[in-house]
Amino acid sequence: MEAIVLAAGKGTRMCSELPKVLHPVFGKPVLGLVLETLAAAGIKSPHAVIGYKAEEVRSFLKPYGAVAVLQREQKGTGHAVLMAKAALKTAQGPVLICPGDMPLVKAETLKEFFAAHQKSKAHVSVLSCESEDPRGYGRIVREDGRFASIREELDATPEERAITEINTGVYLFDKKVLFEGLEKIGKDNQKGEYYLTDTIEILRREGYCVEAFPLAGAEEGQGINSQKDLATVTKKINEREIAKHQVKGVTFMAPDQTFVAPGVKIGQGTTVYPWCYIESGVEIGARCEIGPFAKLRKGSVVGDGSVVGSFVEVNRTQIGKKVLAKHLAYLGDAVIGDGSNIGAGTVTANFDGKKKHQTAIGKNVKVGSNTVFVAPVRVPDGVTTGAGSVVLPSTKIKKGDVVVGVPARPTSKKKR
Ligand code: UD1
Ligand code: CA
Repeated sequence: MEAIVLAAGKGTRMCSELPKVLHPVFGKPVLGLVLETLAAAGIKSPHAVIGYKAEEVRSFLKPYGAVAVLQREQKGTGHAVLMAKAALKTAQGPVLICPGDMPLVKAETLKEFFAAHQKSKAHVSVLSCESEDPRGYGRIVREDGRFASIREELDATPEERAITEINTGVYLFDKKVLFEGLEKIGKDNQKGEYYLTDTIEILRREGYCVEAFPLAGAEEGQGINSQKDLATVTKKINEREIAKHQVKGVTFMAPDQTFVAPGVKIGQGTTVYPWCYIESGVEIGARCEIGPFAKLRKGSVVGDGSVVGSFVEVNRTQIGKKVLAKHLAYLGDAVIGDGSNIGAGTVTANFDGKKKHQTAIGKNVKVGSNTVFVAPVRVPDGVTTGAGSVVLPSTKIKKGDVVVGVPARPTSKKKR
């Protein structure tokens, strides 16, 4: 199946210089989420219509195998689809159209929509949904229950505005019928744009079969037009991710105050306390305690039975098993061996102003409060650092040593 993703608009209502579809949800642009869903639904190389800051948007398409179609001027969704006509020249079968600003729709739903479309033998199908707050969306107008047209908010009569079934912006069109319809739309509307939605009424009048299939819930139909919508979508994705971990035996004390990006692994029996932020790609083992107030960033792994406690930030760091980092620490570009204890106030100074450097801490190391590791640093197994020590790259440390001071130096048992 061919697909067209509409992503050329600026997103005026976002009040932002960044193209709307590049606004991030947990660090990933909204458009990326949509393209991932299409891939999961089995759609290879969709056509993405780009326009506003086209080069910025284009650079995001490649990893998803999407092909760019340029819409130089944004004259409306109908005009945007028309731009893909040449690219679809040899295409057979139905064309899926979806907005680049609707990342909550699931791949399963797209498959079901496709099946319903096939079964009904309609020339055009629209994915609709019931909305408690239909403001801003096109309304599904039915006559005697039959889908008749889509009316945009600004052009709607008060009666039409009262309709709560809305257009999600996802469509399946027979290719020939699509471009036939697009030839006939005008821009005689409040926005002065060529509306894709106007094809419905025209095609129906010409005798084509048009259908609207309502979604079971409104959630997936949520589009992003404003910063408020972006926050709503982010919240929903967070809820979905947390629910996935809950059914695998992870405890979240306060799911609403915890943020877990898609693509995180957490082992059974782990408890995540409130106000944590866990980025995509992080792996946490079983029976760990995370937070409250912990930030776990990309490329970090926490081994089984470890504690990453309050106000601890972990960044590109591998933490072994049964490691305790219970309070106030920055662990960046580090490897920490099993059984080590990281005292309060520990900092890996990983950045020299130009480059990042590694800190390798062995097993069963006892890091005293307020120790600073000026990376690159290697700390062998069983070492203890005194409170306030500053360990330099030049510090010579042997297995089991006790190092103290600024800069840190090994000390004898007697002095201790
Ligand atoms: C559109 C629908 C509306 C539907 C809603 C669902 C039309 C006329 N209206 O309204 O019925 O309820 O989506 O979210 O289609 N775009 C382009 N080029 C353009 C204009 C828009 O590529 O010239 C893209 C935008 O980047 C966006 C998508 O099309 O990703 C939808 O455009 P938007 O302006 O958000 O349409 P809505 O007003 O939300
Ligand atoms: Ca929209």
